[in-house]
Amino acid sequence: MAAATKKPAAKKAAAPKAASKQNVIFKIQRSDDKGNTKWDSFDVAYDGSTTVLGALEDIKGQQDGSLTFRRSCRASICGSCGMYVANRSRLACKTKVSDLINGNATKNIAPVKDNTIVIQPMQNQKVLKDLVVDIQPFFGKVRDITPYVQAGTETQTEVDKTSFEQVNLVSNCIMCGACYSDCTAMVENPDFIGPAALAKAFRFVADPREGRKTERLEELSKKNGIWDCVRCNMCIDACPKDVAPMEAIIKLRTLAMEKGIRNNDGARHAMVFKKDIATWGVLNEPFMILKTKGLWGSIKMLGDALNLARVGKVPNPLPYDHKVGGLDEIKAIYKELAENPIDVQTRALDEGPGAG
Ligand code: SF4
Ligand code: SF4
Ligand code: FES
Repeated sequence: MAAATKKPAAKKAAAPKAASKQNVIFKIQRSDDKGNTKWDSFDVAYDGSTTVLGALEDIKGQQDGSLTFRRSCRASICGSCGMYVANRSRLACKTKVSDLINGNATKNIAPVKDNTIVIQPMQNQKVLKDLVVDIQPFFGKVRDITPYVQAGTETQTEVDKTSFEQVNLVSNCIMCGACYSDCTAMVENPDFIGPAALAKAFRFVADPREGRKTERLEELSKKNGIWDCVRCNMCIDACPKDVAPMEAIIKLRTLAMEKGIRNNDGARHAMVFKKDIATWGVLNEPFMILKTKGLWGSIKMLGDALNLARVGKVPNPLPYDHKVGGLDEIKAIYKELAENPIDVQTRALDEGPGAG
């Protein structure tokens, strides 16, 4: 019998260097179920790999077991650990403490002050306890957009690569609610359906198998829908999965206009805006309100106009008197776009100057 070949002994792996730990203060907003709120501060150790979620778990395990927050996967998949960390909505499991302390330009994170990370529950939602918010309204709005493909007269059976890519863009959503929490339109109008539900709606409007696209677009063009977004870009910035909800909303607006769904304030506003700029290079704001909202709608806004007048913001009703520099260039851009229109539905996320 041949002697068994002896395998060379595996090299012993070098022992990992002990990572140097530093300390940071976590200042956490705490609330009980009666709505009483206070702030608690915790001193917690971290190294280069510590996430906000990891630090919160250390606090819960070693300092205060009553600290309440949601989490499950620890891997940016389940969407349950959304919270308001250092003034932005973020996934706690995806956010590194060291990035918040030192800043991280690539991730658009500014360094915190005084070695202190302020943690609050997500915004625009009722707080149940500590960092846990009531997510029912958020999911209720997602349910309201009928989140499944429906059979109907517009159903197509061929699915091409472009339509797959459109659907895929928004399918990465993990329903974490970060966009909903940072949405500025939601602050003014809690009934606004919100960026996540609208991105989900686009996913179905873009799906060739969907049979009721026009009905969906009509529904989405009503109050609290696509035209209530103020295009602040916050949802694009907040989304940990690069879903870019605002881009999806712009695509929905374009599709709705293309289908002739224009009998609403948002569509009228867009058309007047486009015409004013094309013609004069400047907006005639008083007339824009009249053309968007009609006479009765404008009368109802007189209170707002008076408030603006009180602080000296009275738009010139005759802006056409102004000489707008570069009007020829504006006209050339319009001409170019008329001859070579951009397919807004299929364009990738525009990250250049003037994006959105
Ligand atoms: S862009 Fe629109 S949907 Fe997105 S956060 Fe701003 S207002 Fe909300
Ligand atoms: S769109 Fe992005 S931020 Fe909004 S719920 Fe989905 S994954 Fe979260
Ligand atoms: S724990 Fe699942 S996304 Fe953070």
